[in-house]
Amino acid sequence: MNTEDVIRTFVEYYEERGHHRISGSTLLPPPGDPVLFTTSGMHPLTPYLEGRPHELGRRLVNVQRCLRTTDLEEVGDPTHLTVFEMLGTWSLGDYEGPQSLDWGYGLLTEGFGVDPGLIHATVFGGDEQVGPDTAAEQMWQRHGVPVERTVEDNWWSNGPTGPCGPDSEIFIWTGDTPPQSTPTRDDRWVEVWNHVMMRHRRLPDGSLVPLPQRNVDTGLGLERLASLLQGKNSVFEGDVFTPWRRRVPGLWDLDEPSLRLVCDHLRSAVVVIGDGVRPGNTGRGYVLRRLVRRALTVLWRDDPSRQLGDLPAELVSHTLDHFRQTTDPDEVRRVLLDEERRFGGLLRRGRQVLARPRFQGTLDEEDLHYLHDTHGLPRELVLSLRPRPEPEISEMS
Ligand code: SER
Repeated sequence: MNTEDVIRTFVEYYEERGHHRISGSTLLPPPGDPVLFTTSGMHPLTPYLEGRPHELGRRLVNVQRCLRTTDLEEVGDPTHLTVFEMLGTWSLGDYEGPQSLDWGYGLLTEGFGVDPGLIHATVFGGDEQVGPDTAAEQMWQRHGVPVERTVEDNWWSNGPTGPCGPDSEIFIWTGDTPPQSTPTRDDRWVEVWNHVMMRHRRLPDGSLVPLPQRNVDTGLGLERLASLLQGKNSVFEGDVFTPWRRRVPGLWDLDEPSLRLVCDHLRSAVVVIGDGVRPGNTGRGYVLRRLVRRALTVLWRDDPSRQLGDLPAELVSHTLDHFRQTTDPDEVRRVLLDEERRFGGLLRRGRQVLARPRFQGTLDEEDLHYLHDTHGLPRELVLSLRPRPEPEISEMS
């Protein structure tokens, strides 16, 4: 089942259950949303979760591209991508959590053919403000699915204030042995789908008030599920990365972690540029700048002659097409090359300045400010150009 088949199966399953497909939004959340980028399918739907009637009704389904910078350091492991797609469903004050979980279980096991014995669930165990989600727990028990209760891991919010609620997460076993342990104790349980009972609003003083309606908001990680259904152990081996895996290793000889990071960051940068962001020193532009510079840092570590100009045009167009973006691929390449030139210039200048006797010792805050204000060298860049201190040899007792 390729990624497009997964999307089709998902959407049709929910359409058969009265959901209307809405088109996904760009990575830029609506005005007033507290996040820089859309990190979940619910962002564009916040007003409707808060009670505004949606013109297409109370049951919705979609595919939404998302970007998570919180996961940046985890990129390269088998499950995290910077830009990914989320398949989402919503009950806007219509059916409740157990119904959503029941359908979710049906789709995974019958629609996608996941072995029921490889599924584990988690549910909210309750805290001093909200009681345990026994309705979700009982639903799982009826299906014979093992359930683990947690507190923080099973509470979803979009930020410190706003719509939030207890959730129930669905995990699939990816180990080579028969399933064992539980999702919080063994990371071979991979989370694929989160069902949030979105029925509270958190106020700035930390208290909770009920939303005008009891919603369910679910999000399923598309690349994760697709790669698992394809029998692959990592999202980087799923079909969306096939063109990258075919072209990049012949171009740049990279070890597996570097290959994953470079493919993830360049692919993400293409999508971000495709949604209209340009590199800058603040906000979204800075996120884009970091993605491109992190990829270049890895590429140049072994061979400073590597160039983004060699990136096959086909990879840019394939990515834009996949995300149905209409930006001209040449414009995307121009932005990438501009940023590469700028970063290359900055590195050269940084090396020259840092070679001066004044900067040979330890750099203090004043030096870092001076390098930034007078020479335009960001702290992060300066620190990356300094030789790493030798690790201290600790006395073993
Ligand atoms: N909002 C929830 C999440 O991001 C479910 O879509 O996990």
